Amino acid sequence: MMSTKEKLISHVMKEEPVGSRNKVTVVGVGMVGMASAISVLLKDLCDELALVDVMEDKLKGEVMDLQHGSLFLKTHKIVADKDYSVTANSKVVVVTAGARQLEGESRLNLVQRNVNIFKFIIPNIVKYSPNCIILVVSNPVDILTYVAWKLSGFPRHRVIGSGTNLDSARFRHLMGEKLNIHPSSCHGWIIGEHGDSSVPVWSGVNVAGVSLQGLNPQMGAEDDSENWKAVHKLVVDGLHDEIIVLIGFPQTVLPVLHLLYKMGMHGVKDEVFLSIPCVLGNSGLTDVIHMTLKPGEEKQLVTSAETLWGVQKELTL
Ligand SMILES: NC(=O)c1ccc[n+]([C@@H]2O[C@H](COP(=O)([O-])OP(=O)(O)OC[C@H]3O[C@@H](n4cnc5c(N)ncnc54)[C@H](O)[C@@H]3O)[C@@H](O)[C@H]2O)c1
Repeated sequence: MMSTKEKLISHVMKEEPVGSRNKVTVVGVGMVGMASAISVLLKDLCDELALVDVMEDKLKGEVMDLQHGSLFLKTHKIVADKDYSVTANSKVVVVTAGARQLEGESRLNLVQRNVNIFKFIIPNIVKYSPNCIILVVSNPVDILTYVAWKLSGFPRHRVIGSGTNLDSARFRHLMGEKLNIHPSSCHGWIIGEHGDSSVPVWSGVNVAGVSLQGLNPQMGAEDDSENWKAVHKLVVDGLHDEIIVLIGFPQTVLPVLHLLYKMGMHGVKDEVFLSIPCVLGNSGLTDVIHMTLKPGEEKQLVTSAETLWGVQKELTL
């Protein structure tokens, strides 16, 4: 007897249907992982989305929620499993998995625990998607991007860290609040480490090409009566909650992590990933912008590099 499906549909195509062309995987379905997944879905960035986590119940609940919302989405297929075969042939893999800091735990201990998690995650990603772009979001993102690069064996243009993208976005929002101008018209870059030693490039801050440091030469300094330094402090203090997804912007310039010492830029000599403005395209990170930095800003960037190397050299990979 014919099934309802057979009565409804006649199959025409003889060969196997072509699989996904534009698959995105998100590893880790915590707050950041789900924010990334939902952003990817709402922006129609993929035809298939895969989710991976070690917590099976949570994974099941999250994927069911997304699948049940399929009516409102254009993505054909949403899948999830703790087994990485579900991620096969991804174009982009976003890594948001991470351990939380325990009470009294040192930064180095937390980093090493996350490195151990990456030792499992990264080889599995590589096994099933050898040509993908890995986008690292887990913190400390600068160090874990380096770790992902080392463990993957990928060329450096295919391992990107979300870096100071969030820091720069926050900075532009706060700058906009101070000037009462929309952030899209406020230009300013935070480079270096995503964290305490990040570098605000005061010399480049501008609105419509008008340099604000040209108008207020004390901008960013201790004795600035307008206290612009506080804007950067708010950025550093507020680095905890959300993530702005990077993928899906063809040929966009964003402050993301790149292995700077290889380029010999800005006096950085340590093997670290630091955020600088980079061009992102379909095949990964394609170009790096040469920023004109003042000597003081370059010095801060070198300090940022030394801070990171201080932690990295203690890690067991
Ligand atoms: N780069 C940025 O701009 C930025 C911004 C915000 C948060 N973060 C970082 O993103 C990470 C995630 O934050 P969150 O708030 O979603 O944390 P969370 O604790 O809510 O989620 C982490 C998830 O990772 C999963 N996980 C742990 N080990 C795993 C493994 N081996 N394989 C797969 N999944 C595993 C956990 O089960 C959990 O679901 C943190 O490291 C956080 O610091 C980065």
